[in-house]
Amino acid sequence: MKPSILISSWMFSEVLEFAQEHFEVDDNQRREQFSAAALRARLQDKEGILIAGGDRVDEALLEACPRLRAVCNAGVGYNNIDIEGCTRRGILATNTPGVLDDTTADLGFALLLAAARRVAEGDRYVRAGRWGGPWRNDLLNGFDVHHATLGIIGMGRIGRTVARRGRGFDMKILYCNRTRAPLDVEQALGARLCTLDELLALSDFVCLTLPYSPAVRYLIGAREIALMKPTAVLVNISRGGIVDENALAVALREQRIAAAGLDVYEGEPAVNPALLELENAVLMPHLGSSTRVTRVAMGMTAARNLVAALGGQIPPNLINPDALAARRSG
Ligand code: DGY
Repeated sequence: MKPSILISSWMFSEVLEFAQEHFEVDDNQRREQFSAAALRARLQDKEGILIAGGDRVDEALLEACPRLRAVCNAGVGYNNIDIEGCTRRGILATNTPGVLDDTTADLGFALLLAAARRVAEGDRYVRAGRWGGPWRNDLLNGFDVHHATLGIIGMGRIGRTVARRGRGFDMKILYCNRTRAPLDVEQALGARLCTLDELLALSDFVCLTLPYSPAVRYLIGAREIALMKPTAVLVNISRGGIVDENALAVALREQRIAAAGLDVYEGEPAVNPALLELENAVLMPHLGSSTRVTRVAMGMTAARNLVAALGGQIPPNLINPDALAARRSG
């Protein structure tokens, strides 16, 4: 008998087929929006779950699913999973580091460029039929990206990948991180470690690439935004709750900073209405890793983690090794 699993979001056929070779799969190809109760009902007899897009696996869900042995996230961030609750129950939790770094950094740079060079505003301007009359030297003037200073908050894989793109634009790289990057990494990126306040004050572009934890909720609030240059651009490709969106919206409206490029939001998919009104905010619907190739790679990585976890192996991307001691037998 194959182990039974739930894939809680619509999934690419190649991932689904791979999963079906190994498991009895309950899928969500009809793209149902599961309530917490519906998800509990679908998962209560399953041994594994493959989740994506921030689907929540919380204490109540874990408690209702006594057979569950593995929670495999098709994503690198895992603030949607109660890791502690998994560990206590011996449930292995995994994520997908590595496969999305370049794709996510590309989107970070797309947002940075779009916000600096007013790409979305320009597009709206043309479509609205407003382009005409004499040449305007002051039309939608933006800010230079090349040779500017890029401050990266969170120098993990994605932060470093953003930094490499910045180097391609001859940018000066500052970063802050819990721990200092190895010297060879700093040298290769030409990156200098500094404090958060220093980074905010010196950077023309501030890019958030750190993982979410309650400790960094509203890391960027009114005080921090006030430290930024009036010409600065804030880019967030990490998690929404790291930025106080109300404070950001006020700063953008009053042009205390120039612009923002956001891919993630505190209450997503709901977006703070104050942000929606702002011309100088470029808003994307959490597309950081969204190319087909990368999303398939994320799905396959999660599925392989599930195969290992339910096959008695240590999955390659195990988040909670302490769960191994309390692991439920297969
Ligand atoms: C991630 O992998 O964490 C991305 O935000 C996609 O969910």
